Amino acid sequence: MGLPDHARLGLAYGMSLLAWWTDSAPRPFAASFAVTNRCNLRCSYCNTPFLDPRELPLADVRTLFDRLRGLGVRRLGLVGGEPLVRRDIDAVVDCAKQAGFHVSLNSNLLLYQRRREVFDPVDLVFTSLDGGPEVHRRNRGEASFDGVTGAVRDLVGRGKPVIAIAVVTSDALEPVDFLLDEAESAGFKVHFQPQCTDTEIVRGGLDDRLTDEGLRSLWTGILRRKREGRPIASSTHYLEAQSRWSDFRVSAWLDPEARCAAGRGFLYVDPQGNAYPCAYTKGKAQPVSLLEEDWRSAFPGRTPCTRCNVGPMLEFNLLFQRPLSSSLAALDRLE
Ligand SMILES: C[S@@+](CC[C@H](N)C(=O)[O-])C[C@H]1O[C@@H](n2cnc3c(N)ncnc32)[C@H](O)[C@@H]1O
Ligand code: SF4
Repeated sequence: MGLPDHARLGLAYGMSLLAWWTDSAPRPFAASFAVTNRCNLRCSYCNTPFLDPRELPLADVRTLFDRLRGLGVRRLGLVGGEPLVRRDIDAVVDCAKQAGFHVSLNSNLLLYQRRREVFDPVDLVFTSLDGGPEVHRRNRGEASFDGVTGAVRDLVGRGKPVIAIAVVTSDALEPVDFLLDEAESAGFKVHFQPQCTDTEIVRGGLDDRLTDEGLRSLWTGILRRKREGRPIASSTHYLEAQSRWSDFRVSAWLDPEARCAAGRGFLYVDPQGNAYPCAYTKGKAQPVSLLEEDWRSAFPGRTPCTRCNVGPMLEFNLLFQRPLSSSLAALDRLE
């Protein structure tokens, strides 16, 4: 990402922060749009493929992007489901770039060889790697590892920044070290996120053998590796918060004393064009159709929860709660 792009993003973030501080109309600088719920995998912890398969046609996607721009959004994450199963994903990405967004794309990369050109205009690629082949296949299915590391190397060779998201499903450090060694040799970074539970887009629960103490110690180990300079995209504040999280079976809760920036600083849009403060609140907060309503007046200003350890949401929240110690570089790694 070049400097002018950084500057534009920085400005949008600054405006968003100001609106949040002054408690004025929401001015989100970032949005995630799930282009589809459909997927070519059935990962053990993900419920997205079982949700409504309908998608906005391209003309509506264009309108949606105009609305998001109008709200102040400059950073757009294209997520899913699996975006590459959408035939017109190349047109969706082009549309997002034409609208002037800094665009990231999340993909399991299984269709990478067939859809290589889709990535040409993309600014940042997120993929999924839960550890070595055995751990990854256990979590995500037999064919889920095929070609992924090759695709990551190819993307890095094309000059694309790549972040692999690792869902933490054990308290062992081997998958962490495997990923960090792989990341160092191939030139990508790793973002670790706890397995989150109890919301519409996820399924399943944590392995019964996992204890909070064991998980806190795992996160402390990841934090130490971050301080040692290993290629970890997750921020230090985020890793500190994970290493202090009290109950990993509760991903989010309502603390009346706390304030969450979801809906004000960032938002989530599902494949039918319904907006929610964040992906975790889908099914818990009232949907707002962005094609029909204005988020600024429709968003009630409250979120169903105010504290969470959900990977991307916690990172975004830290940008609002600890802005002075968060750097612009953080904008590069958010989903
Ligand atoms: C929903 S997927 C969409 C993109 C693409 N299909 C993929 O798997 O990379 C986005 C990320 O959420 C992660 N994810 C899915 N279910 C999760 C859960 N219960 N807790 C934490 N992360 C989860 C996935 O592993 C993936 O890295
Ligand atoms: S995590 Fe990604 S690849 Fe796995 S089922 Fe969910 S959307 Fe599909």
